[in-house]
Amino acid sequence: MISFGRYDLPVVTLPDIRYLLFGIFTHQSSGEIWCNSWQKASFYRGSAWGISEAVKTLLKSKRKTQGIVFLPDYFCNQALRPLRAQSVQLVFYPVTENLNPDWRLVHTLVLLNGKPDVFILVHYFGFPSEIKNALQFCQQVGAVLLEDGAHVLIPRGGIGKFSWASVFSPYKFLPVPKLGVLVTSKETEIGCEMLREKKRVDMEICKWIGKRVLQSLFLNCGFSWKSRRIVPFDSEVEPNFERNSSVSAVTLQLLKMTESKLDQYKRIRRRHYKIIEEGIPVNSDVARPFFSSLPEDVCPYLFPMWLHKSIIEDVYYKLNRIGVPAQTWPDLPPEVKEKPSTHSRAIKIRKSLLTIPIHQSLTERQMQYMVRSLRGAIGKVFGG
Ligand SMILES: Cc1ncc(COP(=O)(O)O)c(C=O)c1O
Repeated sequence: MISFGRYDLPVVTLPDIRYLLFGIFTHQSSGEIWCNSWQKASFYRGSAWGISEAVKTLLKSKRKTQGIVFLPDYFCNQALRPLRAQSVQLVFYPVTENLNPDWRLVHTLVLLNGKPDVFILVHYFGFPSEIKNALQFCQQVGAVLLEDGAHVLIPRGGIGKFSWASVFSPYKFLPVPKLGVLVTSKETEIGCEMLREKKRVDMEICKWIGKRVLQSLFLNCGFSWKSRRIVPFDSEVEPNFERNSSVSAVTLQLLKMTESKLDQYKRIRRRHYKIIEEGIPVNSDVARPFFSSLPEDVCPYLFPMWLHKSIIEDVYYKLNRIGVPAQTWPDLPPEVKEKPSTHSRAIKIRKSLLTIPIHQSLTERQMQYMVRSLRGAIGKVFGG
C-alpha cells in the first residue's frame, strides 16, 4: 500500500494527459461563463493584471491622471505590483475578524484621504463578502465597485452582478496556466493592446505543460515532486512576478475543456471542505474553521483554519513534514505592516490562519489522510 506520508500531496490540481491532448482540438473559451448577458470577459496573466487594467480603464474614462483606490489591508503585496506601477494612491481599509470591510473605519478613511475612485471588495476563499454594503458605500462617495473574485470559481448569487467590474483567477481552481478574467459591461472600452495579439502557444504554456506532466508522473509513481525544504512559516519571499503578456490560444482551449466540469469540481470541493470541517478537533480557543459554516452554493477555494498563535507554527511544520501542504497567507503590504495598531486584525489573521488544500484532484483517501494528520498535529501540540 502506498503511504502518503512518504511524499507530498499536490497543492494544485493536475491535468490528465488525455485532457491536454483533446484541448488542442477544442474551441477557445470566450469567458462567458464568468459573465452575465450584458457583460464581456477580457483575459490577462492573472487577476492582479485584471485589477490594474480595470483601474486604468476607469481613470481614463474619467479623464483623470491620478486616482484613489480603497482596498482591504488583508491583501497580498505581490498582487499589487501592477497597480503600484500606476499613478494611484492605495488606501488600505481595515477588515473585521471575519474579513469583511470595517465600514466605520472605511468612512473615517474617506475623511482622511478623500473619496475613492475605486473600491475593491474581496470575496476571500470563495465566501461572498458584503456586496450590498459595498454598493451603498460606492453610491454615497461616487466610487465604482471592483469585486475581487480571485478566490471564486464562477460567480453565483450576487457576485459580479451589480459591480462595475469583477476579476477571477480560474488557474487557482483549474488545471490551466496562469490566467485572470476581467469582467466588465460590454460597453466598457478595455484598452489593453496585449489582448489583441494572441499567440497560439508560448514559452509559458510549454513550461506549464512540461511541469504538470512530470508532476503527475512523479506523484503516480509515489515519488516526491517538491524538494523536502519547507518554506519557513513567516517567510515573505516574493515569488518572481510575471509580466503581463497575451494569454495564448492553447490556454483558452484548455480553459474551455474545463468549463463543462465546473459544477462537478464545485461538488467535490464542497465535499472535501466538509470532510475537513467535520474531521478536525474543534476547540474555539485553539483551533476551528475560519468560517462558521459553508453557505449553499459557495465553492470553497481552500479550507482556511484559525489556530491559536501558540500552536500554529508547530502545526504548520508538523503537517508539511509529513507531506500535507498547509500554507499561510503569503505576505501583507508594507504600508499595513508599518502601522500595526491600525491594521492589527489583518496582521493577527495573517499570523493565525492556515489553509489546507481541498481541490478536485485529491482523493477521498488523501483527504482522510489530511484529517488524521491535522488531528494528530493539533492534538499533539495541545497535549491531546
Ligand atoms: C485576494 C487576491 N486578489 C488577487 C490576487 C492576484 O491573483 P493572480 O494570481 O490571479 O494575479 C490574489 C493572489 O493570490 C489574491 O489572493
